[in-house]
Amino acid sequence: MKIRRAVLSDVARLAAIEALQPASAGWGENGWQTELNTSAAQIWCAEQNDEVAGFVSLRLAAGLAEILNVAVHPQYCRQGVGSALLAQVWRTLKEQGAQEVTLEVNAQNIAATALYKKMGLTEMGRRKKFYHHTDDALIMGKRL
Ligand SMILES: CC(C)(COP(=O)(O)OP(=O)(O)OC[C@H]1O[C@@H](n2cnc3c(N)ncnc32)[C@H](O)[C@@H]1OP(=O)(O)O)[C@@H](O)C(=O)NCCC(=O)NCCS
Repeated sequence: MKIRRAVLSDVARLAAIEALQPASAGWGENGWQTELNTSAAQIWCAEQNDEVAGFVSLRLAAGLAEILNVAVHPQYCRQGVGSALLAQVWRTLKEQGAQEVTLEVNAQNIAATALYKKMGLTEMGRRKKFYHHTDDALIMGKRL
């Protein structure tokens, strides 16, 4: 598996993966283009068989990183892509001097919450009935 920073020619594939994974942020091609042109943003993608299999998008400012969008193409799920992406993100953020990483996830999202726990994130807070007026949002974080 190759992990690298995303470039503008990846936008169509990133949006296609999002469309297959409704729990992701759903930025669409325009949103991805904007994010790729945002200086605080970092978009990491994993390649399998010469195609983008998944991505992690984050922003870093003042030593604090926030993960904003994560998804793996259904064809590549449960093959270690998400955890390899996050492991690379942790390594790079440390090199960049970041102290903490946080994210928000629907508490009912079993796959994502399990991935984040496996990768060392713990629950820092909870927003009650944040999604669809029913599901709690978990704020998860990790010291780097
Ligand atoms: C969450 C997601 C990114 C996981 O990616 P992945 O590449 O399948 O994750 P990995 O293969 O690295 O799995 C790592 C761990 O996560 C957990 N996990 C992943 N998928 C899981 C599932 N369907 N059910 C339960 N646990 C799961 C397991 O603990 C797994 O470790 P294991 O395989 O040793 O048991 C992927 O399921 C996805 O794209 N989901 C839809 C989008 C989404 O929910 N994004 C997050 C929004 S905050």
